[in-house]
Amino acid sequence: MRGNINIFSFQHIRISFYLCLWLAISPVYAQSPSANAVASAHPLATQAGLEVLEQGGNAFDAAVAITAALAVVEPTGSGLGGGGFWLLHRESDQKKVMIDGREMAPGFAHRRMYLDENDNVRERASLDGPLAGGIPGIPAGLVYLAMNYGRLPLSISMAPAIKYAQQGFPISSGLSQSIERAREDFQSYPSSSKIFLPEGNVPDAGYQLIQADLAATLKSIANQGFAGFYQGEMASKIVQGMTANGGIWTAEDLQNYVVLERRPFETNYKDIKIVSASPPSSGGIVMGQILKILEHFDLENMDYVSRAHYVIEAARRAYRDRAVFLGDPDFVEIPEQRLLDDDYIEGLALTIDPLNATPSDKLGELPEIRNKGNSTTHFSVLDKEGNRVAGTLSINRGFGSKFVIPGTGVLVNNEMDDFAIKPENPNSYGLIGYEANAIEPRKRPLSSMTPTFVESEERVGILGTPGGSRIITMVLLGVLDFSSGKLPESWVDLPRFHHQYKPDTVYFERNAFTTDEQQALISRGHQLRESRRLYGNMHAIMWDKRTNYIYAASDKRGEGKAETR
Ligand code: GLY
Repeated sequence: MRGNINIFSFQHIRISFYLCLWLAISPVYAQSPSANAVASAHPLATQAGLEVLEQGGNAFDAAVAITAALAVVEPTGSGLGGGGFWLLHRESDQKKVMIDGREMAPGFAHRRMYLDENDNVRERASLDGPLAGGIPGIPAGLVYLAMNYGRLPLSISMAPAIKYAQQGFPISSGLSQSIERAREDFQSYPSSSKIFLPEGNVPDAGYQLIQADLAATLKSIANQGFAGFYQGEMASKIVQGMTANGGIWTAEDLQNYVVLERRPFETNYKDIKIVSASPPSSGGIVMGQILKILEHFDLENMDYVSRAHYVIEAARRAYRDRAVFLGDPDFVEIPEQRLLDDDYIEGLALTIDPLNATPSDKLGELPEIRNKGNSTTHFSVLDKEGNRVAGTLSINRGFGSKFVIPGTGVLVNNEMDDFAIKPENPNSYGLIGYEANAIEPRKRPLSSMTPTFVESEERVGILGTPGGSRIITMVLLGVLDFSSGKLPESWVDLPRFHHQYKPDTVYFERNAFTTDEQQALISRGHQLRESRRLYGNMHAIMWDKRTNYIYAASDKRGEGKAETR
């Protein structure tokens, strides 16, 4: 007995010794963040998120506040007439989920709806006016987030947005310029010009923009939840306003709108875990394919031009698969496993010539297309409990369809243009598509929105950006920067370049490549085109668990604000 006790004690001391040694040499990671953080495209939206966090809300309540505020203060990018994806991480049970509030095609939508009798695409039919709009998902998303993940009532989390709409807010020079660019379109709709062209003029920077009808619509949602937008009096007003102006939405379309919980896309790149948007967004899968192809190459030890070459070639191949295979998973079977299969990815990697661009046509016959586009919005939130939200929201092009539903203040999206309105016909971002993304009633158009978390043992990142088809490559460059150990300030400032298979062109920001680097890429066979403007508007947060320091950064290309508190 005594001997046993002695042996136990000896073992106990040995175990304790090794335990202490292990603890001494193992890093200690913070269990919860030292501060709340919000980064969004507008200082007032960031302020709304922080206010709600200080009132006892969590990151999901903050997401409601920011989403609603952006609908008021950034009408170019998102709004109650649009849709989006909110990627959530709940710390208490480690649940990760993508809330899908993407627009749904109306019941009367059909695949010939934007074609004339000769099967030609009717110019701008999927972009302008009520016919361009899918059934909005943002109002339902606000309600769903608050009811299922938040802890505050909508009356509190939507209060800042209601205040901004009711009392007005000073418009920025950027918004004034955007209104100037949309002036002619707004003039086609009295309900739109009444708000955005007061007394017929483009408002100057500093003008206090009051949106009384929008305030009433926000209040209706805050008071009645789903019914406050999709049923009853509000739904009648919406259907009437749409129908009177050539739209096809019905009361059933609104009543049947449904928010869906989707399993996020998850993959690894080296020792980093990526959690991102799943279909009906193409973001996660396309970025995942690119990263998996890039794992076959030693990017860290390459010169900048070679690195860009491999990123471009990987993107070319992944965007091709996007065009052929991706669409709404409730309507088409997406061969996700096959697209990410190791052998398939290795096969794609092997087709990359280290010194020469592969012309996109050599990957298989597809048509020439036009290009361009930039709108949408993104925000990131981290709360002190460790909950996170990456939200990317859209009404598609700037101010969506430019049509405000009379009496509601709601700008209708033009997200129907994200469908392949005719096989192989490029949409406004130059993206092409086929059967998988053809229009069908109640189907969700394929998106490129890529709200993303990146996680390693020591660090957690939250990021995303607007920018149409270029969203995926912007987030990709941010993820690669995270992987190199850089901070959000660097991710959001990175000079950007992009390839999307067709057109067979590398678009780049003016500071992305020096003249010599451009020459080096051209000599490898790449066709380069400098973007007329800087593009994207990334808002990102990083929690360094080693120091428990929170970093937040907003893209200097935009007017946003990042703050930790
Ligand atoms: N409307 C842009 C996108 O969803 O990709």
